[in-house]
Amino acid sequence: MALLFLSINDDPGVWTRTLSALMPGLDIRVWPETGPAADIDVALAWKPPPGELRRFPQLKLIISLGMGVDHLLQDPALPSVPLARIVDPGIITQMAEYVCLAVLHYHRHIDDYERQQRERRWRRLPPAETARRTVGLLGLGAIGSHTARQLTALGFPVLAWSRSSKTLAGVDCFHGPEGFEPLLRRSTVLVCLLPLTGETKGIIDAVTLALLPVGAYVVNCARGGHLVEQDLLAALDRGHIAGATLDVFQREPLPAEHPFWTHPKVRVTPHIAGITNPGTTAPQIVENIRRLSEGLPLLNPVDRVRGY
Ligand code: GLV
Repeated sequence: MALLFLSINDDPGVWTRTLSALMPGLDIRVWPETGPAADIDVALAWKPPPGELRRFPQLKLIISLGMGVDHLLQDPALPSVPLARIVDPGIITQMAEYVCLAVLHYHRHIDDYERQQRERRWRRLPPAETARRTVGLLGLGAIGSHTARQLTALGFPVLAWSRSSKTLAGVDCFHGPEGFEPLLRRSTVLVCLLPLTGETKGIIDAVTLALLPVGAYVVNCARGGHLVEQDLLAALDRGHIAGATLDVFQREPLPAEHPFWTHPKVRVTPHIAGITNPGTTAPQIVENIRRLSEGLPLLNPVDRVRGY
């Protein structure tokens, strides 16, 4: 059983050591030093160059090195072998932290206080009411559900929208196209946690933004493809949207000349809201390699048609 490790984001040394400790003897090849292509049975990949996985004629399983799989499915030449993703408790925790941080930042007027500090100005702003800071989450999978619970624990009213009908205690749930507008109309912070699919591409556009209450905030820590960047810039400049916290972009790294870098109402982070952790995910990767060799059903299989 040979495993191909292919990622330009992740440290192959750490991954190789962590996987080998759990499955001694596992033959790990680090791309691009793959050895004979016919040796490779499983690929563990993050953003492989399009067409690259096609080179391995004996490939039996592709495992995404992230919770999202859009980076694999966008390859038209992706081999039609089973596909699994990781569901990383570490990423889930980090994503919820990122969202809570962004919501609290806006809620506690930290932008204003940072500006005041630059001006050496001592002025207390009236506190905002937690019970009126309704947060609308797009996506109610593992990340969305945990984030909803954390926000609820902080006292924020939480709404969530998903493709199909779901329920979560303490959260007002909406689904499908007819549930989208009612959620937007009440969301003072809109948070995108959706998988990127044909249906969700460009979901935060001028129409969506216009349905949010005046002064709402946008947080995108899913994929850059969810957001129509020009539409957000226009809504920020018009004053309809008060601010945006963005971790993901149409082009990554965000080009140096992109207006988001210097926009006074935009906060940029370099796709760090949830970083895959070898310690918390290697066990499920090894388990899937074992399941493959024993012909057992995989953990976290991906439905290619649904796109996640
Ligand atoms: C990160 O973006 C992931 O998909 O895990």
